[in-house]
Amino acid sequence: MADPGHADVRRNELATPWGRWAASDCSVTTEGVGKIMGTGSDSQSASQFPQAEPSLGLDSITTLIKAQLSVNLQTGELSGDRIQSTVRTIGDLEGIFRDEEARQALDPSTLVYRVQAFLPVEEGEEGGLFWGTTFLEPGRVGDEYFMTKGHYHAKRARGEYYLTLQGSGGLILMDEERRTTCEAMRPRTLHYIPAHTAHRVANTGESLLVFLACWPSDAGHDYAAVARQGFSARLRKVGGIPTLVEER
Ligand code: 6PG
Ligand code: NI
Repeated sequence: MADPGHADVRRNELATPWGRWAASDCSVTTEGVGKIMGTGSDSQSASQFPQAEPSLGLDSITTLIKAQLSVNLQTGELSGDRIQSTVRTIGDLEGIFRDEEARQALDPSTLVYRVQAFLPVEEGEEGGLFWGTTFLEPGRVGDEYFMTKGHYHAKRARGEYYLTLQGSGGLILMDEERRTTCEAMRPRTLHYIPAHTAHRVANTGESLLVFLACWPSDAGHDYAAVARQGFSARLRKVGGIPTLVEER
């Protein structure tokens, strides 16, 4: 081989919890092969992989970081270490909906959404990725669908992915010029939230809306900007149909 720093991984058959995997025609550094794949001269070998149950099916995945996180891909439920849970009720959402009187008429303990977030590094630390699930209940405040508070990332130059698992809704996006758009969410839709974009989700269906999210660990949340001015449009039920209505 011309470059002694590289191994031809075609020769390496790798033991993984999912069976033996033969690398195709790519090459990685010898160091990388030893450390990551447990082959070559590094005797730690495949023990670096989490010992996932071979029975794990497509409804569940486990990360490669020592099984700290398990995701149920049917329900969205996360389990493992370093999972933070947040609950938002009608009582927590003052000033978020258009019709404040209608909000006050509802039982303040009514659940609107809960979030589970897997934080493998400290919040604010650069270089990590967080993973979360949001469970958003069906319902309305006046003619406006139950929705998340909505935020910009505190570091504006940070994007995010959403993947819908269950239910139907709208992902409401607003750029810094306050132009608001909406993307339909239904099972298996994947949404890219660009940097510099406020985002919130409304549940337009009759059942729970569940979506997964992945975002950078140093993104943070800026709720204040949205609290001050809101979004420039709201998702409301007009003539029985979810409609993005501009604010006047
Ligand atoms: C994030 C994600 C997502 C979001 C929840 C709840 O940046 O953490 O966008 O996990 O926080 O869907 O929405 P709010 O944070 O706007 O309440
Ligand atoms: Ni976000």
